Amino acid sequence: MGIEFLEKSHQFHLYNDEISYVFHIMRNGQLGNLYFGKRIATNHDYTDREEHSYRPVSAYTYDHEYSFSLGDLRQEYPAYGTGDFRDPAVEIKQENGSTITNFTYQKHHIFAGKPRLDGLPATYVESNDEATTLEITLHDDVIAADMVLTYTIYADRNVIARNVRFVNHGEQPLHITKAMSLALDLPDSNYDWLQFSGAWARERQPKARHLQQGIQAVGSTRGASSHMQNPFVILKRPNTTEDLGTVIGFTFVYSGNFRIQAEVDTYDVTRLTVGIHPQNFDWKLNPGAVFQTPEALITFSHTGLNGLSQTNHALLRERLVRGKWRDRNRPVLINNWEATYFNFDEDKLVQIAKKARDRGIELFVLDDGWFSTRNGETSGLGDWWANRNRLPNGIKGLATRVKKLGMKFGLWFEPEMVNKDSELYRNHPDWIIQTPHRHPSHGRQQYVLDFSRPEVVDAIYTMMAKILAGADIDYIKWDMNRNITEVYSAAYPADQQGEIFHRYILGVYSLYERLIKRFPDILFESCASGGGRFDAGMLYYAPQAWTSDCSDAAERVKIQYGTSYGYPLSSMGAHVSITPNHQLNRSTPLKTRGDIAFFGGGFGYELDLNKLTPAEQKTVNAQIRFAKQSREIINHGTFYRLQDPFTHNIAAWMVVSPDKRHALVEVYKMLNDVNAPFRLTYLRGLDSNAQYRVTEEGGQDYGSHGGDELMNAGLITTDEQAGQVATEDIKGDFSSRLFILSAE
Ligand code: GLA
Repeated sequence: MGIEFLEKSHQFHLYNDEISYVFHIMRNGQLGNLYFGKRIATNHDYTDREEHSYRPVSAYTYDHEYSFSLGDLRQEYPAYGTGDFRDPAVEIKQENGSTITNFTYQKHHIFAGKPRLDGLPATYVESNDEATTLEITLHDDVIAADMVLTYTIYADRNVIARNVRFVNHGEQPLHITKAMSLALDLPDSNYDWLQFSGAWARERQPKARHLQQGIQAVGSTRGASSHMQNPFVILKRPNTTEDLGTVIGFTFVYSGNFRIQAEVDTYDVTRLTVGIHPQNFDWKLNPGAVFQTPEALITFSHTGLNGLSQTNHALLRERLVRGKWRDRNRPVLINNWEATYFNFDEDKLVQIAKKARDRGIELFVLDDGWFSTRNGETSGLGDWWANRNRLPNGIKGLATRVKKLGMKFGLWFEPEMVNKDSELYRNHPDWIIQTPHRHPSHGRQQYVLDFSRPEVVDAIYTMMAKILAGADIDYIKWDMNRNITEVYSAAYPADQQGEIFHRYILGVYSLYERLIKRFPDILFESCASGGGRFDAGMLYYAPQAWTSDCSDAAERVKIQYGTSYGYPLSSMGAHVSITPNHQLNRSTPLKTRGDIAFFGGGFGYELDLNKLTPAEQKTVNAQIRFAKQSREIINHGTFYRLQDPFTHNIAAWMVVSPDKRHALVEVYKMLNDVNAPFRLTYLRGLDSNAQYRVTEEGGQDYGSHGGDELMNAGLITTDEQAGQVATEDIKGDFSSRLFILSAE
């Protein structure tokens, strides 16, 4: 692994055993892309791959010749207005009104390791031999500004991390109105674009289309990455499958407004850009100031979609997530939300916790409603002290009782929000995000606190830290239940209002960082009405996220399947809830609900165990035992998608332990079918030479089978009832089977 610079051809080549990323300093001093993909030879000049065709309507840089047009060249970090008519990576408005820039190469620096980004989430290394970094400084003389492009290549991961930094050395303020974290010009457009879209309660559903000339993009302008789109997109060659083919993934390590866009030009060049959404973005860069973009990641696989996901999973869980909980299995939890909603008191909670403890649950989480006057949606947010009517002994009293049961204790917060009916709002009505003389819209009767102001973040930190220091608290569920409207901050002048969305998310990150530093043992789970901020940025602070407010098993199969393209199982909070399900009134078997929730690193329950029948209690006992046994493989194993629930009645996935000695295979059938065919599920990732004992959760033994047999001839997953007359113990709709493989 390394980064090579060929002096003669001015060419950079970032490479490891698997991938190559090649670009060069072009004749005009700007940077041009030459290649990205599977590893090719180093110490070779690839300059002849630069495009020089003559095009009648192109604009040319050099007088009297037709050989250099920025509009036809593949570039590293393009600007608009000097021959390139495509959507640019950067735009800077200057005092005279011009937006033309010309950043040209000044110097570069190659070094071992990977620097952290100040105040922003980013992947990291634990030792300098894990990665090499290249920093290239480009300069624009007219505006006296530097632009520093940073590239890191990992040694053993098919990943290139990029970010950009701007420094104003001049005397005039500059306005950065667009600063993508990366741009990548690919020489053709023969790709399928795969995005992960949805809505509240049906997040991250894969949607694919073939690239066409023009622009295709996903983004969010809501102030959060959103339920609707996700800052993770895949480009794959057509006919790529889960196991074969070339795939490029783009992950934005950021939780606010974003855009990922592919523009296919008239010559089929594909320009991919990833960064902060330019809508409403306008960063004033004063003389001497620095602006740092968030990080964006390019991942590559020539072993299909599973290969790409596995690279993303390992990177995010090993070198993005931090702290004590990175490598640890997470406690099995019970959350009282769907059990009680706002209707609880201390005794009722302790009753739920006690029953949970008896089942083997390790963490009790108290959700919304424990503070101030919070008896419903209309009041209390912003006042982070215990409601003494519900909790006469405060959080400390409840925490002590839960601890006495031998359980860990967790608490819900929604730190970024305020209700108008709260002391915080009454004392500081100017602390919400709102535009002067305009009516502020509400969401769930709440308003967004202006986290672009350090004093607002301070005030929330002080209240939260008091609660956390005053009781023994092991876990926080950090919620965020509405998006930002009428964006404006009373603390900033007119020409800085375009900074507020980004400053807001920097404020959120700073609060997380302060709490993590002071309370390093706390396990954070992020949440935004379910999966409304499920992104790589959040994972840097909170190692797990509440995947979706929809806990129905049939929907969860799809949501977790879709989420798995970009994010590891360890990042997914997955709970068993009651039936009929509270989101869509569907009944699914308790076994299926458990089987699907096992495949999330944050396994738990969202119901009142006191209300289950004795038979259900027994099932829950077995589930909890199984969750504890299997969490090691779930959190650290290699995950394979086998069959897609969006296109098949039967879905399947599996996870294999790093040493390949153990595997779990889940087969889920949406609707039962009668007189069905003989069925096989082809497994992946096993040791071909090992013999595996195959059992099914619950005890049935299917004998010993070779890894080669299970992968090539398949695991027999035919139902016992295929072709038979239905018996009483027939599996119905929404059934699942969980196979356990152990090498002998
Ligand atoms: C959001 C969360 C839920 C729950 C409620 C509490 O909807 O996603 O899990 O915490 O808020 O108000």
